[in-house]
Amino acid sequence: MRKILVTGGAGFIGSHFIRLLLTRYDYEVVNLDALMYSGNLKNLSDVEGHGRYRFIHGDIRDEAAVGEAMAGADAVVHFAAESHVDRSIREPDAFLQTNIIGTYRLLEAARRGDIERFLLVSTDEVYGQVLTGTSREGDPLDPRSPYSATKASADLLVRAYWTTYGLPVVTTRGSNNFGPNQYPEKIIPLFITNAIDSLALPLYNDGKAVRDYIYVTDHCEGIAAVLHRGQPGEVYNVGGGNLKNGIEIATAILRVLGKPEGLITFVTDRPGHDLRYSLDSSKAQALGWKPGHSFETALESTVAWYRENEGWWREIKSGAYRDYYRKMYGERGNP
Ligand code: NAD
Ligand code: DAU
Repeated sequence: MRKILVTGGAGFIGSHFIRLLLTRYDYEVVNLDALMYSGNLKNLSDVEGHGRYRFIHGDIRDEAAVGEAMAGADAVVHFAAESHVDRSIREPDAFLQTNIIGTYRLLEAARRGDIERFLLVSTDEVYGQVLTGTSREGDPLDPRSPYSATKASADLLVRAYWTTYGLPVVTTRGSNNFGPNQYPEKIIPLFITNAIDSLALPLYNDGKAVRDYIYVTDHCEGIAAVLHRGQPGEVYNVGGGNLKNGIEIATAILRVLGKPEGLITFVTDRPGHDLRYSLDSSKAQALGWKPGHSFETALESTVAWYRENEGWWREIKSGAYRDYYRKMYGERGNP
């Protein structure tokens, strides 16, 4: 492989993945991103002038943009998506358009081209909630939110292109990422930035829902391992193994920042809230990958990043974000 198309590379995980590709490998990297609300070229300011990097401002639903971006590519790593569950509950339309139709456009272009690897970045949410035990790759899919239903659709479509057309696809199912540059709507960056400003940390229901957290660069390393060593047609779970509930996340952040636990506020639950995810990642680990960061150290460096990069998130947390947040959640924990 020489040239890799990354979709959604201006977002949180995609930007870390592009940095990994440019610094660790010799690939030419094309980044196709529509710069939706969570897309931010500042996430890539350190590599924008890199000789092996090219940005294309375009939409994965647009056949012409996809054709231009995929020209000459040997591999596709597909991150672009609408990614936030709460938004999908309120306004599902964009999720169907981007996560399903956009993935279909990329697959069609890939099967007409000369693609050696098509990697879909999927999610543990496709398994639905797992109240006990851990999800393995062969488990049935049981998505329960509009977001996870569209990701499961993409996941199945990608595998259908392997079975039907022999397109050499691989799929990763990652757990909850955290780290620098995460849009401050997901729990960890929302709570860090709220706590810095002594605003409320809104925990849904009783704060007991569990997620399997992974530091973003560990997830990116897992994706790279699957890209290079995964078997075509196969799925690989990429989880951090750090099972934490909302209360544990909130108290850990408050502890690192030296803020009072009184900032925690219990609010109305997310409709259809999945109460627990947990991944068995032994199949990806058999490729020689394992997460390298402890949750505690990674959380401390994430908090440090948000403290040192206030301009990045304060710009986001004004204007459109503010109006959207108010519409979604009312006044609680508002910037
Ligand atoms: P993000 O919201 O930060 O980034 C998404 C990016 O996709 C943005 O840059 C956005 O501009 C771009 N995009 C959206 N619609 C597009 C379109 N129609 N055309 C082109 N670009 C478009 O999301 P993230 O958290 O970085 O997630 C990236 C991928 O990883 C998603 O596919 C998500 O489902 C998956 N994933 C995320 C997590 C997580 O914890 N965040 C875990 C597992 C899997
Ligand atoms: O599991 C992987 C998924 O993780 C990814 O596929 C998604 O793209 C990503 O958004 C994330 O989804 P979650 O819904 O798990 O993440 P979120 O940060 O929104 O919520 C994590 C947990 O925290 C969940 O139990 C809901 C709770 N929560 C979240 C927010 C935003 C709160 O209690 N309060 C909040 O304000």
